Amino acid sequence: MTKTPPKPRLRSQDWFDNPDHADMTALYLERFMNYGTTPEELRAGRPIIGIAQSGSDLSPCNRHHLDLAKRVRDGIRDAGGIPIEFPTHTLFENCKRPTAALDRNLAYLGLVELLYGYPFDGVVLTTGCDKTTPSALMAAATVDIPAIVLSGGPMLDGWHEGDLVGSGTVIWRSRRKYGAGEITREEFLETALESAPSVGHCNTMGTASTMNAIAEALGMSLTGCAAIPAAYRERGQMAYRTGKRAVELVHEDLRPSDIMTRPAFLNAIRVNAAIGGSTNAQPHIAAMAKHAGVEITAKDWQTYGYDIPLLANVQPAGKYLGERFHRAGGVPAIMWELMEAGKLDLSCRTVTGQNMGANLEGRQSSDREVILPYGAPMMERAGFFVLTGNLFDFAIMKTSVISEDFRRRYLTTPGSEGVFEGTAFVFDGSEDYHARINDPALDIDEHSILVIRGAGPLGWPGSAEVVNMQPPDRLLKRGITSLPTLGDGRQSGTADSPSILNASPESAAGGGLAWIRTGDRLRIDLTGGRCDMLVSDAELDRRKAEGLPKVPPSATPWQQLYRETVTQMQDGATIRGAEKFRAISRKLPRH
Ligand code: FES
Ligand code: MG
Repeated sequence: MTKTPPKPRLRSQDWFDNPDHADMTALYLERFMNYGTTPEELRAGRPIIGIAQSGSDLSPCNRHHLDLAKRVRDGIRDAGGIPIEFPTHTLFENCKRPTAALDRNLAYLGLVELLYGYPFDGVVLTTGCDKTTPSALMAAATVDIPAIVLSGGPMLDGWHEGDLVGSGTVIWRSRRKYGAGEITREEFLETALESAPSVGHCNTMGTASTMNAIAEALGMSLTGCAAIPAAYRERGQMAYRTGKRAVELVHEDLRPSDIMTRPAFLNAIRVNAAIGGSTNAQPHIAAMAKHAGVEITAKDWQTYGYDIPLLANVQPAGKYLGERFHRAGGVPAIMWELMEAGKLDLSCRTVTGQNMGANLEGRQSSDREVILPYGAPMMERAGFFVLTGNLFDFAIMKTSVISEDFRRRYLTTPGSEGVFEGTAFVFDGSEDYHARINDPALDIDEHSILVIRGAGPLGWPGSAEVVNMQPPDRLLKRGITSLPTLGDGRQSGTADSPSILNASPESAAGGGLAWIRTGDRLRIDLTGGRCDMLVSDAELDRRKAEGLPKVPPSATPWQQLYRETVTQMQDGATIRGAEKFRAISRKLPRH
Protein backbone atom coordinates (compact mmCIF):
# COMPACT_ATOMS: atom_id res chain seq x y z
CA MET A 1 0.00 0.00 0.00
CA THR A 2 1.48 3.38 -0.99
CA LYS A 3 1.14 6.16 1.48
CA THR A 4 0.31 9.65 0.23
CA PRO A 5 2.83 12.11 1.69
CA PRO A 6 1.38 14.47 4.30
CA LYS A 7 0.29 17.82 2.87
CA PRO A 8 2.74 20.59 3.78
CA ARG A 9 1.42 22.73 6.57
CA LEU A 10 -0.13 25.98 5.41
CA ARG A 11 0.95 29.30 6.81
CA SER A 12 -2.63 30.02 7.92
CA GLN A 13 -2.70 26.88 10.05
CA ASP A 14 -0.32 28.55 12.45
CA TRP A 15 -3.24 30.84 13.26
CA PHE A 16 -6.22 28.53 12.97
CA ASP A 17 -4.92 25.10 13.87
CA ASN A 18 -2.08 25.50 16.33
CA PRO A 19 -2.07 22.85 19.07
CA ASP A 20 0.58 24.74 21.05
CA HIS A 21 -1.55 27.86 21.28
CA ALA A 22 -5.14 26.78 21.94
CA ASP A 23 -5.95 30.13 23.52
CA MET A 24 -4.61 32.13 20.59
CA THR A 25 -6.27 29.84 18.06
CA ALA A 26 -9.61 30.46 19.75
CA LEU A 27 -9.03 34.19 19.56
CA TYR A 28 -7.98 34.07 15.91
CA LEU A 29 -11.00 31.98 14.96
CA GLU A 30 -13.87 33.43 16.92
CA ARG A 31 -14.41 36.78 15.22
CA PHE A 32 -14.47 35.31 11.73
CA MET A 33 -17.56 33.43 12.97
CA ASN A 34 -19.56 36.60 13.37
CA TYR A 35 -20.42 36.82 9.70
CA GLY A 36 -21.15 33.14 9.34
CA THR A 37 -17.80 31.56 8.56
CA THR A 38 -17.52 28.20 10.31
CA PRO A 39 -14.56 26.85 12.27
CA GLU A 40 -14.65 23.76 10.03
CA GLU A 41 -13.89 25.87 6.96
CA LEU A 42 -11.00 27.69 8.54
CA ARG A 43 -9.56 24.58 10.18
CA ALA A 44 -9.73 22.16 7.24
CA GLY A 45 -6.26 22.99 5.92
CA ARG A 46 -7.80 24.80 2.97
CA PRO A 47 -5.70 27.68 1.59
CA ILE A 48 -6.81 31.09 2.87
CA ILE A 49 -6.65 33.44 -0.10
CA GLY A 50 -6.66 37.18 0.42
CA ILE A 51 -8.39 39.40 -2.09
CA ALA A 52 -6.52 42.70 -1.86
CA GLN A 53 -9.40 44.98 -2.80
CA SER A 54 -8.27 48.21 -4.43
CA GLY A 55 -11.75 49.34 -5.48
CA SER A 56 -13.90 51.86 -3.63
CA ASP A 57 -15.96 54.96 -4.35
CA LEU A 58 -12.71 56.86 -3.99
CA SER A 59 -10.98 54.81 -6.70
CA PRO A 60 -13.36 54.89 -9.66
CA CYS A 61 -10.80 53.29 -12.00
CA ASN A 62 -10.83 50.17 -9.81
CA ARG A 63 -14.36 50.35 -8.41
CA HIS A 64 -15.71 47.44 -10.47
CA HIS A 65 -13.34 45.16 -8.57
CA LEU A 66 -16.01 45.29 -5.85
CA ASP A 67 -18.20 43.26 -8.24
CA LEU A 68 -15.40 41.24 -9.83
CA ALA A 69 -14.37 40.04 -6.37
CA LYS A 70 -17.57 37.95 -6.31
CA ARG A 71 -16.29 35.93 -9.22
CA VAL A 72 -12.83 35.76 -7.66
CA ARG A 73 -14.47 34.29 -4.54
CA ASP A 74 -16.35 31.73 -6.67
CA GLY A 75 -13.07 30.66 -8.24
CA ILE A 76 -11.31 30.40 -4.90
CA ARG A 77 -14.19 28.34 -3.40
CA ASP A 78 -14.40 26.03 -6.41
CA ALA A 79 -10.70 25.30 -6.11
CA GLY A 80 -11.08 24.51 -2.42
CA GLY A 81 -9.81 27.73 -0.90
CA ILE A 82 -11.36 30.24 1.50
CA PRO A 83 -11.50 33.88 0.33
CA ILE A 84 -10.92 36.77 2.73
CA GLU A 85 -11.35 40.18 1.11
CA PHE A 86 -9.81 43.34 2.56
CA PRO A 87 -9.27 46.93 1.41
CA THR A 88 -5.93 48.38 0.34
CA HIS A 89 -4.95 52.04 0.60
CA THR A 90 -6.77 53.95 -2.13
CA LEU A 91 -4.75 55.21 -5.08
CA PHE A 92 -6.63 57.45 -7.50
CA GLU A 93 -4.23 58.95 -9.96
CA ASN A 94 -6.25 61.92 -11.16
CA CYS A 95 -7.56 63.16 -7.86
CA LYS A 96 -5.03 62.74 -5.07
CA ARG A 97 -3.20 65.96 -4.21
CA PRO A 98 -0.41 66.89 -4.32
CA THR A 99 0.10 63.66 -6.30
CA ALA A 100 -0.84 59.98 -6.07
CA ALA A 101 2.86 59.14 -6.40
CA LEU A 102 3.27 60.08 -2.76
CA ASP A 103 0.92 57.25 -1.82
CA ARG A 104 2.44 54.38 -3.79
CA ASN A 105 4.93 53.64 -1.02
CA LEU A 106 2.21 54.07 1.59
CA ALA A 107 -0.01 51.52 -0.17
CA TYR A 108 3.02 49.24 -0.44
CA LEU A 109 3.73 49.51 3.29
CA GLY A 110 0.09 48.89 4.17
CA LEU A 111 -0.20 45.82 1.99
CA VAL A 112 3.06 44.35 3.31
CA GLU A 113 1.73 44.61 6.87
CA LEU A 114 -1.60 42.99 5.95
CA LEU A 115 -0.13 40.11 3.98
CA TYR A 116 2.53 39.46 6.59
CA GLY A 117 0.53 39.93 9.78
CA TYR A 118 -2.66 38.06 8.88
CA PRO A 119 -3.26 34.37 8.09
CA PHE A 120 -2.89 34.40 4.31
CA ASP A 121 -1.53 31.55 2.22
CA GLY A 122 -1.92 33.37 -1.08
CA VAL A 123 -3.37 36.58 -2.49
CA VAL A 124 -5.23 37.93 -5.48
CA LEU A 125 -3.99 41.44 -6.18
CA THR A 126 -6.70 43.57 -7.78
CA THR A 127 -5.08 46.26 -9.89
CA GLY A 128 -6.00 48.96 -12.39
CA CYS A 129 -5.27 52.65 -11.85
CA ASP A 130 -1.61 53.55 -12.31
CA LYS A 131 0.03 52.91 -8.96
CA THR A 132 -2.27 50.14 -7.75
CA THR A 133 -0.26 47.67 -9.86
CA PRO A 134 3.31 48.50 -8.83
CA SER A 135 2.43 48.97 -5.14
CA ALA A 136 0.76 45.54 -5.09
CA LEU A 137 3.65 43.81 -6.86
CA MET A 138 6.22 45.56 -4.67
CA ALA A 139 4.40 44.17 -1.63
CA ALA A 140 4.06 40.72 -3.19
CA ALA A 141 7.83 40.68 -3.77
CA THR A 142 8.59 41.71 -0.19
CA VAL A 143 6.20 39.24 1.44
CA ASP A 144 6.59 36.48 -1.16
CA ILE A 145 3.43 34.48 -0.61
CA PRO A 146 1.87 33.03 -3.78
CA ALA A 147 0.28 36.00 -5.54
CA ILE A 148 -1.58 36.65 -8.76
CA VAL A 149 -2.67 39.90 -10.40
CA LEU A 150 -6.24 40.48 -11.53
CA SER A 151 -6.25 43.61 -13.68
CA GLY A 152 -9.45 45.59 -13.77
CA GLY A 153 -9.15 46.40 -17.46
CA PRO A 154 -9.62 49.63 -19.38
CA MET A 155 -12.85 51.52 -19.91
CA LEU A 156 -14.67 51.05 -23.21
CA ASP A 157 -13.40 53.23 -26.06
CA GLY A 158 -14.45 56.87 -25.86
CA TRP A 159 -15.99 58.62 -28.87
CA HIS A 160 -16.67 62.27 -29.62
CA GLU A 161 -18.31 63.28 -32.89
CA GLY A 162 -17.01 60.22 -34.68
CA ASP A 163 -13.48 60.45 -33.30
CA LEU A 164 -11.87 58.12 -30.78
CA VAL A 165 -11.12 60.09 -27.63
CA GLY A 166 -8.73 58.46 -25.21
CA SER A 167 -8.28 59.07 -21.48
CA GLY A 168 -5.79 61.77 -20.65
CA THR A 169 -4.51 62.08 -24.20
CA VAL A 170 -7.69 63.98 -25.12
CA ILE A 171 -6.98 66.41 -22.29
CA TRP A 172 -3.45 67.19 -23.48
CA ARG A 173 -4.64 67.52 -27.09
CA SER A 174 -7.72 69.61 -26.26
CA ARG A 175 -5.66 71.82 -23.99
CA ARG A 176 -3.51 72.78 -26.96
CA LYS A 177 -6.61 73.48 -29.09
CA TYR A 178 -8.12 75.51 -26.27
CA GLY A 179 -4.87 77.46 -25.85
CA ALA A 180 -4.84 78.16 -29.60
CA GLY A 181 -8.44 79.42 -29.35
CA GLU A 182 -9.82 76.64 -31.60
CA ILE A 183 -12.36 75.28 -29.09
CA THR A 184 -14.38 76.75 -26.25
CA ARG A 185 -14.11 75.79 -22.61
CA GLU A 186 -17.40 73.86 -22.86
CA GLU A 187 -16.20 71.90 -25.89
CA PHE A 188 -13.00 71.09 -24.01
CA LEU A 189 -14.97 69.70 -21.06
CA GLU A 190 -17.47 67.77 -23.19
CA THR A 191 -14.80 66.05 -25.28
CA ALA A 192 -12.79 65.15 -22.19
CA LEU A 193 -15.80 63.66 -20.40
CA GLU A 194 -16.68 61.48 -23.39
CA SER A 195 -13.37 59.69 -23.02
CA ALA A 196 -14.80 57.88 -19.97
CA PRO A 197 -17.83 55.84 -21.15
CA SER A 198 -17.78 52.96 -18.64
CA VAL A 199 -16.19 51.42 -15.58
CA GLY A 200 -12.49 50.71 -15.86
CA HIS A 201 -9.14 52.46 -15.93
CA CYS A 202 -7.71 54.77 -18.61
CA ASN A 203 -8.37 53.34 -22.07
CA THR A 204 -5.19 54.73 -23.62
CA MET A 205 -1.75 53.12 -23.25
CA GLY A 206 -1.22 55.35 -20.24
CA THR A 207 0.34 54.24 -17.01
CA ALA A 208 -2.59 52.00 -15.99
CA SER A 209 -2.65 49.94 -19.22
CA THR A 210 1.14 49.94 -19.25
CA MET A 211 1.56 48.67 -15.69
CA ASN A 212 -1.06 45.97 -16.13
CA ALA A 213 0.67 44.91 -19.35
CA ILE A 214 3.92 44.79 -17.40
CA ALA A 215 2.33 42.64 -14.68
CA GLU A 216 1.34 40.21 -17.42
CA ALA A 217 4.75 40.42 -19.13
CA LEU A 218 6.39 39.63 -15.79
CA GLY A 219 4.27 36.49 -15.62
CA MET A 220 2.23 37.68 -12.64
CA SER A 221 -1.24 37.51 -14.25
CA LEU A 222 -2.97 34.92 -16.39
CA THR A 223 -2.30 35.17 -20.12
CA GLY A 224 -4.45 37.81 -21.79
CA CYS A 225 -5.59 39.37 -18.51
CA ALA A 226 -4.27 42.91 -18.85
CA ALA A 227 -6.16 44.20 -21.87
CA ILE A 228 -9.69 42.80 -21.39
CA PRO A 229 -11.96 45.86 -21.12
CA ALA A 230 -13.51 46.25 -17.68
CA ALA A 231 -17.07 45.96 -18.96
CA TYR A 232 -16.60 42.81 -21.09
CA ARG A 233 -17.94 39.47 -19.88
CA GLU A 234 -14.44 38.05 -20.31
CA ARG A 235 -13.35 40.22 -17.40
CA GLY A 236 -15.64 38.35 -15.00
CA GLN A 237 -14.47 35.04 -16.43
CA MET A 238 -10.86 36.10 -15.94
CA ALA A 239 -11.72 37.00 -12.33
CA TYR A 240 -13.09 33.48 -11.77
CA ARG A 241 -10.05 31.79 -13.34
CA THR A 242 -7.68 34.03 -11.40
CA GLY A 243 -9.36 33.09 -8.11
CA LYS A 244 -9.11 29.41 -8.94
CA ARG A 245 -5.51 29.69 -9.95
CA ALA A 246 -4.61 31.49 -6.71
CA VAL A 247 -5.47 28.33 -4.75
CA GLU A 248 -3.45 26.13 -7.08
CA LEU A 249 -0.45 28.46 -6.71
CA VAL A 250 -0.50 27.74 -2.97
CA HIS A 251 -0.55 23.98 -3.55
CA GLU A 252 2.28 24.30 -6.07
CA ASP A 253 4.16 26.70 -3.79
CA LEU A 254 4.79 28.98 -6.77
CA ARG A 255 5.83 32.36 -5.41
CA PRO A 256 6.67 35.84 -6.75
CA SER A 257 10.36 35.08 -6.16
CA ASP A 258 10.06 32.23 -8.70
CA ILE A 259 8.51 34.57 -11.26
CA MET A 260 9.78 38.13 -10.76
CA THR A 261 13.35 37.41 -11.87
CA ARG A 262 15.80 39.53 -13.85
CA PRO A 263 14.93 37.83 -17.18
CA ALA A 264 11.24 38.53 -16.46
CA PHE A 265 11.97 42.22 -15.81
CA LEU A 266 13.97 42.44 -19.03
CA ASN A 267 10.99 40.91 -20.86
CA ALA A 268 8.81 43.61 -19.27
CA ILE A 269 11.18 46.37 -20.41
CA ARG A 270 10.94 45.07 -23.99
CA VAL A 271 7.16 44.82 -23.84
CA ASN A 272 6.99 48.37 -22.53
CA ALA A 273 8.83 49.62 -25.62
CA ALA A 274 6.70 47.57 -28.01
CA ILE A 275 3.42 48.90 -26.58
CA GLY A 276 4.67 52.52 -26.46
CA GLY A 277 4.30 52.32 -22.70
CA SER A 278 4.29 55.05 -20.09
CA THR A 279 7.50 56.68 -18.84
CA ASN A 280 6.20 55.90 -15.35
CA ALA A 281 7.12 52.29 -16.05
CA GLN A 282 10.73 53.25 -15.38
CA PRO A 283 10.45 54.13 -11.66
CA HIS A 284 7.83 51.41 -11.09
CA ILE A 285 9.95 48.68 -12.68
CA ALA A 286 12.96 49.93 -10.72
CA ALA A 287 10.91 49.73 -7.51
CA MET A 288 9.39 46.30 -8.15
CA ALA A 289 12.79 44.91 -9.14
CA LYS A 290 14.47 46.34 -6.10
CA HIS A 291 11.93 44.74 -3.75
CA ALA A 292 12.30 41.47 -5.66
CA GLY A 293 16.07 41.60 -5.14
CA VAL A 294 16.72 42.04 -8.85
CA GLU A 295 19.17 44.62 -10.15
CA ILE A 296 17.84 46.71 -13.03
CA THR A 297 20.11 49.57 -14.06
CA ALA A 298 19.65 52.67 -16.20
CA LYS A 299 21.72 50.93 -18.84
CA ASP A 300 19.25 48.04 -19.03
CA TRP A 301 16.60 50.40 -20.44
CA GLN A 302 18.96 51.40 -23.20
CA THR A 303 20.43 47.92 -23.82
CA TYR A 304 17.25 45.88 -23.77
CA GLY A 305 14.49 48.40 -24.43
CA TYR A 306 15.64 51.11 -26.78
CA ASP A 307 16.03 49.01 -29.93
CA ILE A 308 12.59 47.44 -29.66
CA PRO A 309 10.15 48.78 -32.29
CA LEU A 310 6.71 50.18 -31.56
CA LEU A 311 4.15 47.48 -32.39
CA ALA A 312 0.95 48.72 -30.75
CA ASN A 313 -1.04 51.30 -32.66
CA VAL A 314 -2.62 52.66 -29.51
CA GLN A 315 -2.86 56.22 -28.15
CA PRO A 316 -0.85 58.22 -27.18
CA ALA A 317 1.84 56.88 -29.56
CA GLY A 318 -0.76 55.57 -32.04
CA LYS A 319 -4.42 55.74 -32.99
CA TYR A 320 -6.60 53.15 -31.25
CA LEU A 321 -7.79 52.47 -27.70
CA GLY A 322 -8.23 49.56 -25.32
CA GLU A 323 -11.13 47.67 -26.93
CA ARG A 324 -9.49 47.38 -30.30
CA PHE A 325 -6.14 46.50 -28.66
CA HIS A 326 -7.81 43.67 -26.78
CA ARG A 327 -9.59 42.37 -29.88
CA ALA A 328 -6.28 42.45 -31.75
CA GLY A 329 -4.83 40.06 -29.19
CA GLY A 330 -3.59 42.40 -26.45
CA VAL A 331 -0.37 41.76 -24.58
CA PRO A 332 0.09 38.10 -25.65
CA ALA A 333 -0.02 39.13 -29.32
CA ILE A 334 2.63 41.80 -28.68
CA MET A 335 4.73 39.24 -26.85
CA TRP A 336 4.22 36.72 -29.65
CA GLU A 337 5.90 39.18 -32.03
CA LEU A 338 8.79 39.66 -29.63
CA MET A 339 9.04 35.90 -29.18
CA GLU A 340 9.22 35.28 -32.94
CA ALA A 341 11.91 37.97 -33.22
CA GLY A 342 13.94 36.17 -30.55
CA LYS A 343 13.59 39.06 -28.12
CA LEU A 344 12.06 37.32 -25.11
CA ASP A 345 13.33 34.94 -22.50
CA LEU A 346 10.73 32.21 -22.93
CA SER A 347 11.88 30.12 -20.00
CA CYS A 348 10.47 32.53 -17.40
CA ARG A 349 7.99 30.87 -15.05
CA THR A 350 4.56 32.42 -14.78
CA VAL A 351 1.44 32.16 -12.62
CA THR A 352 -0.19 29.97 -15.26
CA GLY A 353 2.17 27.21 -14.12
CA GLN A 354 3.71 27.12 -17.60
CA ASN A 355 6.66 29.10 -18.84
CA MET A 356 6.16 32.23 -20.94
CA GLY A 357 6.91 30.48 -24.22
CA ALA A 358 4.09 27.99 -23.67
CA ASN A 359 1.69 30.79 -22.70
CA LEU A 360 2.33 32.57 -26.00
CA GLU A 361 1.74 29.57 -28.22
CA GLY A 362 -0.76 30.48 -31.00
CA ARG A 363 -1.20 34.09 -29.85
CA GLN A 364 -0.40 35.79 -33.16
CA SER A 365 -2.52 38.87 -33.86
CA SER A 366 -5.01 38.83 -36.69
CA ASP A 367 -5.54 42.61 -36.66
CA ARG A 368 -2.46 44.10 -38.28
CA GLU A 369 -3.77 47.62 -38.14
CA VAL A 370 -3.50 47.57 -34.36
CA ILE A 371 -0.67 45.14 -33.61
CA LEU A 372 1.99 45.41 -36.25
CA PRO A 373 4.50 42.73 -37.21
CA TYR A 374 7.97 43.08 -35.69
CA GLY A 375 9.44 43.44 -39.17
CA ALA A 376 7.07 46.24 -40.24
CA PRO A 377 6.44 48.28 -37.08
CA MET A 378 4.89 51.69 -36.42
CA MET A 379 8.38 52.97 -35.60
CA GLU A 380 11.86 51.51 -35.17
CA ARG A 381 13.71 51.91 -31.85
CA ALA A 382 10.80 52.97 -29.68
CA GLY A 383 12.22 52.31 -26.22
CA PHE A 384 13.23 54.93 -23.68
CA PHE A 385 16.34 56.87 -24.50
CA VAL A 386 18.58 57.32 -21.45
CA LEU A 387 20.41 60.63 -21.02
CA THR A 388 23.08 61.99 -18.70
CA GLY A 389 25.06 65.23 -18.38
CA ASN A 390 25.74 68.12 -16.02
CA LEU A 391 22.03 68.66 -15.38
CA PHE A 392 21.40 65.16 -14.03
CA ASP A 393 22.98 61.72 -13.86
CA PHE A 394 19.93 60.05 -15.31
CA ALA A 395 16.83 60.98 -17.26
CA ILE A 396 14.73 59.29 -19.91
CA MET A 397 12.90 60.35 -23.03
CA LYS A 398 9.99 58.49 -24.60
CA THR A 399 10.96 58.22 -28.24
CA SER A 400 7.74 56.59 -29.45
CA VAL A 401 5.88 59.91 -29.20
CA ILE A 402 8.39 62.05 -31.12
CA SER A 403 6.27 63.60 -33.86
CA GLU A 404 7.40 64.22 -37.41
CA ASP A 405 7.19 67.95 -36.73
CA PHE A 406 9.44 67.65 -33.67
CA ARG A 407 11.89 65.49 -35.56
CA ARG A 408 12.07 68.00 -38.42
CA ARG A 409 12.51 71.00 -36.15
CA TYR A 410 15.08 69.61 -33.73
CA LEU A 411 16.65 66.38 -34.86
CA THR A 412 17.46 66.64 -38.55
CA THR A 413 19.86 69.59 -38.81
CA PRO A 414 22.31 68.48 -41.54
CA GLY A 415 25.72 67.71 -40.08
CA SER A 416 24.51 67.58 -36.49
CA GLU A 417 21.58 65.15 -36.52
CA GLY A 418 20.03 64.65 -33.14
CA VAL A 419 21.83 67.61 -31.55
CA PHE A 420 20.18 70.92 -30.77
CA GLU A 421 20.69 73.91 -28.54
CA GLY A 422 18.18 76.25 -27.04
CA THR A 423 17.65 78.85 -24.37
CA ALA A 424 16.32 77.59 -21.04
CA PHE A 425 13.21 79.01 -19.40
CA VAL A 426 13.13 77.69 -15.87
CA PHE A 427 10.02 77.21 -13.73
CA ASP A 428 10.02 76.31 -10.04
CA GLY A 429 7.05 73.97 -9.85
CA SER A 430 3.81 74.07 -11.81
CA GLU A 431 2.34 77.11 -10.02
CA ASP A 432 5.28 79.14 -11.32
CA TYR A 433 4.80 77.69 -14.82
CA HIS A 434 1.06 78.53 -14.91
CA ALA A 435 1.62 81.99 -13.49
CA ARG A 436 4.26 82.99 -16.02
CA ILE A 437 4.00 80.91 -19.21
CA ASN A 438 1.79 83.48 -20.97
CA ASP A 439 3.66 86.49 -19.58
CA PRO A 440 4.55 88.56 -22.70
CA ALA A 441 7.74 89.69 -20.94
CA LEU A 442 8.97 86.10 -21.07
CA ASP A 443 10.64 85.87 -24.42
CA ILE A 444 9.83 82.23 -25.23
CA ASP A 445 10.11 81.35 -28.91
CA GLU A 446 10.57 78.23 -31.05
CA HIS A 447 14.23 78.00 -30.00
CA SER A 448 13.41 77.80 -26.29
CA ILE A 449 13.57 74.81 -23.99
CA LEU A 450 11.11 74.69 -21.08
CA VAL A 451 12.57 73.44 -17.80
CA ILE A 452 10.67 72.56 -14.63
CA ARG A 453 12.21 71.64 -11.28
CA GLY A 454 11.04 71.06 -7.74
CA ALA A 455 8.85 68.30 -9.17
CA GLY A 456 10.76 65.22 -8.02
CA PRO A 457 10.10 62.88 -5.06
CA LEU A 458 11.61 65.27 -2.48
CA GLY A 459 10.65 68.54 -4.09
CA TRP A 460 6.96 68.11 -4.81
CA PRO A 461 6.83 65.89 -2.64
CA GLY A 462 6.05 62.65 -4.41
CA SER A 463 7.06 63.63 -7.97
CA ALA A 464 4.48 65.25 -10.21
CA GLU A 465 3.37 64.70 -13.79
CA VAL A 466 4.17 68.21 -14.91
CA VAL A 467 7.09 68.03 -17.34
CA ASN A 468 4.90 67.93 -20.46
CA MET A 469 4.50 71.72 -20.42
CA GLN A 470 2.77 73.26 -23.38
CA PRO A 471 4.16 76.35 -25.15
CA PRO A 472 2.64 79.80 -24.51
CA ASP A 473 -0.72 80.42 -26.21
CA ARG A 474 0.84 82.86 -28.66
CA LEU A 475 3.11 80.08 -30.01
CA LEU A 476 0.19 77.61 -30.11
CA LYS A 477 -1.74 80.14 -32.21
CA ARG A 478 1.21 80.18 -34.62
CA GLY A 479 1.01 76.39 -34.94
CA ILE A 480 3.96 75.59 -32.67
CA THR A 481 2.33 72.88 -30.60
CA SER A 482 5.37 71.62 -28.72
CA LEU A 483 8.72 72.77 -27.40
CA PRO A 484 11.43 70.58 -25.92
CA THR A 485 10.81 70.21 -22.20
CA LEU A 486 12.80 68.72 -19.40
CA GLY A 487 12.58 68.38 -15.65
CA ASP A 488 12.89 66.36 -12.48
CA GLY A 489 9.19 65.47 -12.46
CA ARG A 490 7.30 62.92 -14.49
CA GLN A 491 4.69 63.20 -17.20
CA SER A 492 1.39 61.44 -17.55
CA GLY A 493 1.59 58.14 -19.37
CA THR A 494 -1.16 59.45 -21.62
CA ALA A 495 0.88 62.48 -22.74
CA ASP A 496 2.21 62.61 -26.28
CA SER A 497 5.20 64.85 -25.51
CA PRO A 498 8.80 63.74 -26.01
CA SER A 499 9.93 65.32 -22.73
CA ILE A 500 13.19 64.57 -20.94
CA LEU A 501 12.00 63.56 -17.51
CA ASN A 502 12.45 61.60 -14.27
CA ALA A 503 15.76 63.48 -13.95
CA SER A 504 17.81 62.18 -11.05
CA PRO A 505 19.13 63.48 -8.79
CA GLU A 506 16.35 66.05 -8.65
CA SER A 507 16.91 69.71 -7.98
CA ALA A 508 15.79 69.42 -4.33
CA ALA A 509 18.49 66.78 -3.81
CA GLY A 510 21.18 69.09 -5.20
CA GLY A 511 21.12 67.79 -8.78
CA GLY A 512 22.35 70.00 -11.63
CA LEU A 513 18.84 71.32 -12.29
CA ALA A 514 19.15 73.30 -9.06
CA TRP A 515 21.80 75.53 -10.63
CA ILE A 516 20.27 76.28 -14.02
CA ARG A 517 18.92 79.80 -14.64
CA THR A 518 16.59 81.24 -17.26
CA GLY A 519 18.66 82.41 -20.22
CA ASP A 520 21.25 79.61 -19.98
CA ARG A 521 22.07 77.79 -23.19
CA LEU A 522 21.25 74.09 -23.16
CA ARG A 523 22.69 71.49 -25.45
CA ILE A 524 20.75 68.28 -26.00
CA ASP A 525 22.45 65.46 -27.87
CA LEU A 526 20.01 62.72 -28.70
CA THR A 527 22.67 60.72 -30.50
CA GLY A 528 25.26 60.72 -27.73
CA GLY A 529 22.70 60.70 -24.92
CA ARG A 530 23.80 63.90 -23.22
CA CYS A 531 22.02 66.94 -21.88
CA ASP A 532 24.15 69.83 -20.58
CA MET A 533 23.84 73.45 -19.57
CA LEU A 534 26.60 75.46 -21.23
CA VAL A 535 27.63 77.29 -18.09
CA SER A 536 31.20 77.68 -16.77
CA ASP A 537 32.28 75.90 -13.60
CA ALA A 538 33.10 79.25 -11.97
CA GLU A 539 29.58 80.49 -12.62
CA LEU A 540 28.09 77.22 -11.33
CA ASP A 541 30.14 77.57 -8.13
CA ARG A 542 28.82 81.09 -7.69
CA ARG A 543 25.23 79.87 -8.07
CA LYS A 544 25.76 77.00 -5.65
CA ALA A 545 26.52 79.57 -2.97
CA GLU A 546 22.97 80.88 -3.43
CA GLY A 547 21.60 77.55 -2.12
CA LEU A 548 18.94 75.18 -3.37
CA PRO A 549 15.66 76.47 -4.81
CA LYS A 550 12.90 76.55 -2.19
CA VAL A 551 10.36 73.73 -1.97
CA PRO A 552 7.11 73.69 0.00
CA PRO A 553 7.24 72.35 3.57
CA SER A 554 5.72 68.95 4.31
CA ALA A 555 1.99 69.34 4.89
CA THR A 556 1.19 65.92 6.41
CA PRO A 557 3.02 63.44 8.64
CA TRP A 558 3.38 61.02 5.74
CA GLN A 559 4.90 63.70 3.49
CA GLN A 560 7.59 64.20 6.11
CA LEU A 561 8.24 60.47 6.53
CA TYR A 562 8.22 60.05 2.75
CA ARG A 563 10.84 62.76 2.31
CA GLU A 564 12.99 61.25 5.03
CA THR A 565 13.03 57.85 3.36
CA VAL A 566 12.51 58.21 -0.40
CA THR A 567 15.16 57.38 -3.01
CA GLN A 568 15.53 59.14 -6.36
CA MET A 569 13.49 58.36 -9.47
CA GLN A 570 16.38 56.48 -11.05
CA ASP A 571 16.16 54.05 -8.12
CA GLY A 572 12.38 53.78 -8.25
CA ALA A 573 11.59 56.38 -5.56
CA THR A 574 11.36 53.50 -3.10
CA ILE A 575 11.65 53.59 0.67
CA ARG A 576 15.36 53.58 1.42
CA GLY A 577 16.37 50.36 3.15
CA ALA A 578 13.03 48.59 2.62
CA GLU A 579 14.57 46.29 0.02
CA LYS A 580 16.42 44.36 2.71
CA PHE A 581 13.07 42.94 3.86
CA ARG A 582 12.56 40.15 1.38
CA ALA A 583 10.51 36.95 1.37
CA ILE A 584 9.42 37.83 4.91
CA SER A 585 6.56 35.31 4.92
CA ARG A 586 9.12 32.50 5.17
CA LYS A 587 9.30 33.25 8.87
CA LEU A 588 6.06 33.34 10.83
CA PRO A 589 5.30 36.46 12.84
CA ARG A 590 5.17 36.03 16.61
CA HIS A 591 1.78 35.77 18.32
FE1 FES B 1 -6.96 55.91 -12.90
FE2 FES B 1 -5.96 56.66 -15.39
S1 FES B 1 -6.72 57.88 -13.71
S2 FES B 1 -6.33 54.75 -14.58
MG1 MG C 1 -0.68 59.62 -14.21
